Order: sequence, then structure tokens, then C-alpha cells
Amino acid sequence: MELNEIKKKLSGNLKESRYTHTLGVAYTASAMAMALGADIQKAFRAGLLHDCAKGYPIERQMKLCSQYGIILTREMKESPQLLHSALAPYIARDCYGNEDAEIASAVECHTTGKPGMSLLDKIIFIADYIEPGRKDIPGLSEARRLAFSDINQCLLKIIENTMQYLKSRDQAIDPRTTETHEYYKEGDHT
Ligand SMILES: [Fe+2]
Ligand SMILES: [Fe+2]
Repeated sequence: MELNEIKKKLSGNLKESRYTHTLGVAYTASAMAMALGADIQKAFRAGLLHDCAKGYPIERQMKLCSQYGIILTREMKESPQLLHSALAPYIARDCYGNEDAEIASAVECHTTGKPGMSLLDKIIFIADYIEPGRKDIPGLSEARRLAFSDINQCLLKIIENTMQYLKSRDQAIDPRTTETHEYYKEGDHT
């Protein structure tokens, strides 16, 4: 699907603030791709698509998960914001024509990360946290600086900030976030 068509469809399916965030992630991801010598167009497209399932009400997201055979874990039921990333590769494929496996991977892991992330996975995960419209999240200025100087350190900081934030609010930490943290705290393995 053409980028303009994707944008038009997304702007109809997401609330305005979410669409603004989406554009912020797409432009931040493409700037990171420029700095890191990654595929700029792919980063832009993945950024556009990362929250493509977020416009559906939670009930509908749950239904879609069962239609796509996504097994709902206890954590997904308790923290329904995890659903939109699990659904993202399917909605990106079926509603936005995405056939690219690297983009599918990046949109799928953008909330929790995963062990052994590709460069594009890392770019989207980080861009989601640091895009210009973000406010009031822990360690934001440090993450923004690290994104363009040490991407692995940046990734680790964001995961640690997120875990600390969830702990401080007595919210459950998804086991996949813990796995990602375990994997990256000793340095990148790739
Ligand atoms: Fe998201
Ligand atoms: Fe997002």
C-alpha cells in the first residue's frame, strides 16, 4: 500500500493524538535509520504501522486476537495495552497490505521488546518512547541522547525505566519485558 494511503487510513482509524504520535514515531524512526545506516523507508513504514491496532476498543481487540489465533496470556488480560502490539502484524498485513516480515516483527515487539531484537525492532521500540510528542515519562532526555549515541544502552535504559515505573505503580511487568531485560543487561548478544 502507498504511504499516503496508509496515512489516510490511519488518520481515520486512530484518534487525533494517537495519529500525531504515530507520525512522530515514523519520523523519529526514519531519523534513527539515517543515523545508523538502516533502511529509512522501512523504518518510516514500520513507525506508521506500529500502533495500527490501537484504534479498536479493547473488546474488539480481544475478539480479533481470538480470530487470529493469538492466545491471550494472563498478562494480556490484565494489561490490555499489550493486545495492540500482538495484533499489529495481522492488522498491518490485512488492513494496510504489509508483506514485510521485518516490519511485522518490529510492530509486534514494540511494547515489550524481545530477546535478539533486529536493528529495526530496536529503532521502533526506541522511537515509540522518544518521539517529539512524548512528555512526562521517566528518563526521557537521557533516552533521547542515547538513541543517537548508543542504541543498546538506550534500549536497556528504556526497559529499566519502564520496569521501575510499573513497579512503582504496583503494576504487573510482562514476562517478555523481563526476558528482554535479562537478555540485554549483559550487553547486546548480536
Ligand atoms: Fe503501542
Ligand atoms: Fe506507540
